[in-house]
Amino acid sequence: MSHELFEAAKAAMAKAYAPYSKFPVGAALRTEDGRIFTGANIEVASYPEGWCAETTALGHYIMGGGGKIMEIAVLAERMAKCSPCGGCRQRLAEFCRPETKLYLCDNAGVAETVTMDDMLPYGFRGDMLK
Ligand code: THU
Repeated sequence: MSHELFEAAKAAMAKAYAPYSKFPVGAALRTEDGRIFTGANIEVASYPEGWCAETTALGHYIMGGGGKIMEIAVLAERMAKCSPCGGCRQRLAEFCRPETKLYLCDNAGVAETVTMDDMLPYGFRGDMLK
């Protein structure tokens, strides 16, 4: 199952638009009912306007109907175990549970499995706004 998600992230990474950093990244997430949503990083000549692979995947997930996220794979061509940036951790946490699995990959497959809570302990949460 996790290898299938890795393959989806790899296919997404092939679609990265990263002419400035030359650092392609792919992400794939699976919902409880088995749907897979993917994304790649998309850069812009005005550098801060670009965004990450995880964020693209979340956009597809929301537009595809959302749901309970069970697992997420992240892969970067040039870095083993590339882990989501701070902003993406916050975005992912918005739609995940603390126990949601995150697969950090290398070019061969899943290299390490962590949880969302490992990734963003003490994060700011929407329920704190109530
Ligand atoms: N990037 C991602 O897409 N996801 C990450 O988890 C880390 C960084 C992208 C952003 C930028 O296009 C490139 O990698 C270099 O920072």
